[in-house]
Amino acid sequence: MAFHRFLALVTIVLFTATTVSAGTYNVKSYGAKPNGKTDSSKAFMAAWSSACGSTKAATVYVPKGRFLVGGLRFNGPCRNGAITVRIDGTLVAPSNYFVLGNAKFWVLFHGVQGVTIVGGTLDAQGAGLWACKTSGSRKCPDGATSLAISNSNNVIVYGLSSINSQMFHIAVNGCRNVRILGVNVMAPWNSPNTDGIHVQLSTGVTILNSKIGTGDDCVSIGPGATNLWIEGVACGPGHGISIGSLGKDLKEQGVSNVTVKRVTFKGTENGLRIKAWAKPSNGFVNGVLFQNAIMTNVENPIVIDENYCPGDKNCPRQVSGVKISNVRYQDVHGTSATKVAVKFDCSKKYPCRGIKMQDVNLSFKNQLPASAYCVNAAGTTSGVMKPTSCF
Ligand SMILES: *[C@@H]1O[C@H](CO)[C@@H](O)[C@H](O)[C@H]1NC(C)=O
Ligand SMILES: *[C@@H]1O[C@H](CO)[C@@H](O)[C@H](O)[C@H]1NC(C)=O
Repeated sequence: MAFHRFLALVTIVLFTATTVSAGTYNVKSYGAKPNGKTDSSKAFMAAWSSACGSTKAATVYVPKGRFLVGGLRFNGPCRNGAITVRIDGTLVAPSNYFVLGNAKFWVLFHGVQGVTIVGGTLDAQGAGLWACKTSGSRKCPDGATSLAISNSNNVIVYGLSSINSQMFHIAVNGCRNVRILGVNVMAPWNSPNTDGIHVQLSTGVTILNSKIGTGDDCVSIGPGATNLWIEGVACGPGHGISIGSLGKDLKEQGVSNVTVKRVTFKGTENGLRIKAWAKPSNGFVNGVLFQNAIMTNVENPIVIDENYCPGDKNCPRQVSGVKISNVRYQDVHGTSATKVAVKFDCSKKYPCRGIKMQDVNLSFKNQLPASAYCVNAAGTTSGVMKPTSCF
């Protein structure tokens, strides 16, 4: 989709060109201090208010330096439909994780239209909270998502880095037409719940040319994600790209029309995964294309798991109601770290239907033959099929 990329760049150039000449609101002019110590939240909010209240296209500018900020709430609606938030510096979250730990979000864009976020680093300093969580203490807060975009349309996130989030790095919820391009996500492999990009209840989200190394899912796709396009993403470490977990609720929106192409997985727990809880639900997955994926030492390269039960705790152990159909795997190759490279463990009540595998070539540790495992799954294969199909 070079054309996609081209369009995105043109859009950014146009946005930037039109907004730089219009009102620019520099957070430093509102009292923000780039010393990493002074709480600059109020200055950021004041700059946003000015940009949002402007009748013309406006830019919020964050210059170089480290800015300590607590929860930022960039709420719409705004009086103009073209706000650029240009970040040359780094936003730093308070190191005391109780400050944001119960706030759900650190930086939130809510109810906005036509916002472009360019550049910048978000450093959430999550290590303290991870240590609390991994110690098994019950007193740890859930943690905050670093960048959340909710109930918004026409948002672009371009060239942003997110490091050491407390919880998810980036989350898109209840949106239409969001483009996430050239982002870099970094957290250690053992940092809990630090999903790279989470998308749910949204349509027309595109994630392009990004690098995601983290402790949980690279990209996680929740209920109600439709017309989602993921291309050119390098995952690892982490848990891979996952549709789900789904079916947690009895009534839930389905996932449809998802394209995942040109992706690489290095040393991840999973590659291309669909997961659902083993309990009744009206959820579904229909129309997924996984195309052109390279696996390097991935524990479960291709997996559909409708008996999802992390840590084997509190499992419903019923039958999943999630209906999975029309899932295609094309040109998936590389190495599995375990013998079972392909695993389809589907619902007894609603077997997976219409799985198509074409040119799949996965080996176990570079040379040994891998195997495939199917329960309640039906589909077809064409071209190369290694391991031998279990349909
Ligand atoms: C599927 O989603 C893509 C964007 O990811 C969109 O271009 C395409 O039109 C959608 N297809 C259908 C049938 O809605
Ligand atoms: C499968 O991949 C292996 C390792 O890359 C390669 O040597 C082999 O030729 C491939 N097989 C086919 C049938 O493409």
